[in-house]
Amino acid sequence: MEKENVLVLDFGGQYNQLIARRVRECHVYCEVHSSDMPLDEIRKMAPKGIILTGGPNSVYDDASPHADQELFSLGIPILGICYGAQILAYQLGGKVSTAPVSEYGKTETVVDNSVSLFKSWIETSVAWMSHTDYIETVPPGFKVTGHTGNCPVAAMQDEEHGFYAVQFHPEVVHTDEGMKLFRNFVYDICGCTGNWEMSSFIDTTVGQIREKVGEGRVLLGLSGGVDSSVAAALLSKAIGKQLTCVFVDHGLLRKNEGDEVEAVFGNNGLFELDFIRVNAAGHFYEKLSGITEPEQKRKIIGAEFINVFETEAKKIGKVDFLAQGTIYPDVIESGLGKSATIKSHHNVGGLPEHVDFKEIIEPLRMLFKDEVRQVGLKLGLPEHLVYRQPFPGPGLGIRIIGEVNEEKVKIVQEADAIYREEIDRAIKDDPDWKPSQYYAALTNMRSVGVMGDGRTYDYAVALRAVITSDFMTATAAPIPWDILTRIADRIVNEVKGVNRVLYDCTSKPPATIELE
Ligand code: XMP
Repeated sequence: MEKENVLVLDFGGQYNQLIARRVRECHVYCEVHSSDMPLDEIRKMAPKGIILTGGPNSVYDDASPHADQELFSLGIPILGICYGAQILAYQLGGKVSTAPVSEYGKTETVVDNSVSLFKSWIETSVAWMSHTDYIETVPPGFKVTGHTGNCPVAAMQDEEHGFYAVQFHPEVVHTDEGMKLFRNFVYDICGCTGNWEMSSFIDTTVGQIREKVGEGRVLLGLSGGVDSSVAAALLSKAIGKQLTCVFVDHGLLRKNEGDEVEAVFGNNGLFELDFIRVNAAGHFYEKLSGITEPEQKRKIIGAEFINVFETEAKKIGKVDFLAQGTIYPDVIESGLGKSATIKSHHNVGGLPEHVDFKEIIEPLRMLFKDEVRQVGLKLGLPEHLVYRQPFPGPGLGIRIIGEVNEEKVKIVQEADAIYREEIDRAIKDDPDWKPSQYYAALTNMRSVGVMGDGRTYDYAVALRAVITSDFMTATAAPIPWDILTRIADRIVNEVKGVNRVLYDCTSKPPATIELE
């Protein structure tokens, strides 16, 4: 089967990952590379189409990234989006200027739906705009195929040479007809057939892993999260008992979580592999004793995690490969990563230094999260694991404000279990209503209450539930009042040490999703 590939050249736009996602939703494999990818490599890759992304620059700035002029002579169809559209206009002889008014947000856009890029579009629809520069004059050979009230060239094309450009962002959900544009581009214009399937990904990857590993041994740090679990299942299918999974239970997991991971991956579980569980709760509580500063807590948990993992790995002896559940957004982000550190994330980039291995294997490196989930389901992982909500590497350690100890962990585990049970029930009754992430945290605040005839002086639990699509920004979920009060009643009645329940209704920003 021919490996179809579409190349996304990244000019620094904030939606570059989304573009790749949309192409893959058309079942066409797609990779994101930097806009300065050498032409030789592009030729070698032989993509069936190239997409130039948006970006923050202006084409006239000398420092702005431009495309290699020869890109336009490869005979490969090119779609420019936003800044990518302006690059096409500018480098092929059109004129780009600063618009008198910036266009931002949902914008009524009229397109010529007789051209292949806009096949089956309705003529006037809403598209998402975000630009200050605009294409004033199209290059020779181009015709205008779309406009808005403020933007005379919202789309243009030179069909003969395979050049297409849109000023708006078809990749965001606010562009009503956006998905059709990607289908038209990859199928009708680039001639792709759409043969990228998760089952063929599994077969190919299993073959590659077997070839690479041979008779060797592979070590994987299993956290119970989606990525490392799917990596474990995939590696198990490829090499069975040659895989050792070390699961470090740091005592900061949610209620029963350690046992749940063991039930799936343990020696009586669903997969053929060598499973080692390290119960290190006591060690972590000891290291965290007296520590209250959030970053310090994160650093300790991260460092100890690696220590414990290494100690266990040394007992196994020499391994040939270290496997990791890295996924494509990690790869893309670490390639760009220029943003300020708000919190040091553990399980990103932390590699054990003292484990003796010759190479790293990252079987999910080219997959997006929802593709990872599809692979997990196909490999037989239980749905609750594949669709579990994000859980931070430092676990409950950052959901207990201030010092962490066993008693506090117990309290937050119990409160969180009740909260999740109630929310899950509410979601079952009304599936449209689903926060993206929800959890209970333990504040460091104690206050006075009354229970029976007696005074209490106990902790306050904070409930958090957010709605978000990217976890970069979020709003607090509007949990119905009756559900909230039922949860509060249950928590104060059932969890010893808690006499007050608070709901966190702050957005991100300015708050973050986790409390520390
Ligand atoms: P914040 O608190 O930064 O969280 O708004 C955004 C998302 O990231 C998760 N998170 C982490 N995930 N290791 C992780 O793997 C970490 O150290 C970590 N800290 C926060 C958080 O749960 C939310 O989904």
